[in-house]
Amino acid sequence: MINRVLLKAAAVLAAALLVPAVPAVAAGGGGPAGDPANVDVGNVASLQRGARHFMNYCSGCHSAKYVRYNQLGRDLGLTDQQLIDNLMFTAVKPTETIDIAMRPADAQRWFGQPPPDLSLITRARGVDYVYNFLRSFYVDPARPLGVNNLWLPNASMPHVLWSLQGLQRAVYEDVPGGAPKFVRFELERPGSMTPAEYDEFVRDIVNFLAYIGEPVKLQRESLGVLVIAFLLVFGVFAYLLKQEIWKDVR
Ligand code: HEC
Repeated sequence: MINRVLLKAAAVLAAALLVPAVPAVAAGGGGPAGDPANVDVGNVASLQRGARHFMNYCSGCHSAKYVRYNQLGRDLGLTDQQLIDNLMFTAVKPTETIDIAMRPADAQRWFGQPPPDLSLITRARGVDYVYNFLRSFYVDPARPLGVNNLWLPNASMPHVLWSLQGLQRAVYEDVPGGAPKFVRFELERPGSMTPAEYDEFVRDIVNFLAYIGEPVKLQRESLGVLVIAFLLVFGVFAYLLKQEIWKDVR
């Protein structure tokens, strides 16, 4: 009897644990239809590339102050020496977080908007938004920096990756009685990368940003696989046990 109750309890527990977790809904804005980012935080090679691109192209302006270098090292499989040689341009100790030297008051004066900390940007805006944002700078002579952004109109961030992507023009279509509609981008001046290479480059950065937004996701996903495997094996034993017990009852 006790066994039956226990078995039932185990079955209920197993069922509850097997209910797939509701995936976090990416908080994408309205805005133009973009492409999916298709990032994969389990891809460590992509995270390593993303970390390097982030430190080279973004960390001059953007901090990631919830991230410690030594945790990066651990998660991305880098030794302290590799960290120091490849990622730690401003920090002295691996226990430091990713900070910037720019003072907030200067940032305000230079850009009109201080560059936000990017630790949680993919949680706030969604990976697809950040992916499309970084691919959507276009030439706009009316703006102080000569570029605008389709996803963040009048963005005060310069197109820091222009030498890689090149400069593109936004083509609009007239809509009778309405605002012109964005149709597509046209490359005006090619950069050092092909569009496909540039997309990959951006995807690696966004993947890295997705990882720093939720570092435990790496562990959680591998732990999840173990838990499911355990439940499956456990289920087989529970079933065999039930057969064994009920054999005598019947
Ligand atoms: C020269 C300084 C500078 C560099 C370098 C820079 N940014 Fe920015 N970034 C800014 C500023 C300024 C803003 C604020 C824009 C605004 O709100 O108008 C910003 C905003 C952002 C935003 C938020 C957009 C939003 O919707 O609020 C993201 C995402 C971002 N940057 C990503 C990056 C990434 C990724 C890199 C590296 C490839 C990078 N930035 C490099 C200055 C910079």
